[in-house]
Amino acid sequence: MFGGPLEQEDMKKMAAEKAVERIADGMTIGLGTGSTVKYVIKKLGEMINTGLKIEGVPTSLKTKKIAKKYGIPLVDLDEHTEIDLTIDGADEVDSYLNLIKGGGGALTREKIIAYHSKKELIVVDETKIVKKLGVGFPLPVEVIKYGWNATKKTLEQLDCTAELRKIMDEVYITDNSNYILDCDFGKINEPEVLEKEINSIPGVIENGLFVGLVDEVIVGSKQGIITLEERCLQ
Ligand code: 5RP
Repeated sequence: MFGGPLEQEDMKKMAAEKAVERIADGMTIGLGTGSTVKYVIKKLGEMINTGLKIEGVPTSLKTKKIAKKYGIPLVDLDEHTEIDLTIDGADEVDSYLNLIKGGGGALTREKIIAYHSKKELIVVDETKIVKKLGVGFPLPVEVIKYGWNATKKTLEQLDCTAELRKIMDEVYITDNSNYILDCDFGKINEPEVLEKEINSIPGVIENGLFVGLVDEVIVGSKQGIITLEERCLQ
């Protein structure tokens, strides 16, 4: 299927196509956000065309649009408050299956949907696997617009450098009409502590640390598929 050396896109596609094997008829599926999940959605579209019956709950407006394009029936989290399986991407994954998410700006909805899922399955290529979170990717924090600069200064007291996310000089606005502050903490030694500290600051909506929410990670690597489950890592 993949001739020659595997590129990052091939590894993403490989992980995505392995993940959809976990999907069965009748399931409500949380649909994550990002370029890896796009392969999941595309494959799901093909499976639906050949008779699979599922419903999807999108984690972002971008995913909603892609899922509609591929003919995936969609429902709202408020109609289906229990999700069987969510498949999502990540920006970094550590050896305890903790994550940094939010590169695509959808961290708040992604975390809500992960929390309400019976199983959270993450699909990544091997470049996302790290020993410690925060080394290669700043932590996205969603904050309300009001007082964002004061919130930024308070976040920086936790020993990070925070930057207001902009795309082509335009301030980035989330699907929830908020801002994102990308916070460079360097190595994050205690993600479970930092996650709570950040969320206790008024003005913060949510941060991209996913701690203890993930059941399985499927990694597309140059050696093929690697599956990480929490129980084999502790
Ligand atoms: C979006 C996310 C994405 O899952 C994360 O950024 C990974 O994206 P990609 O698969 O494009 O690398 O957290 O908010």
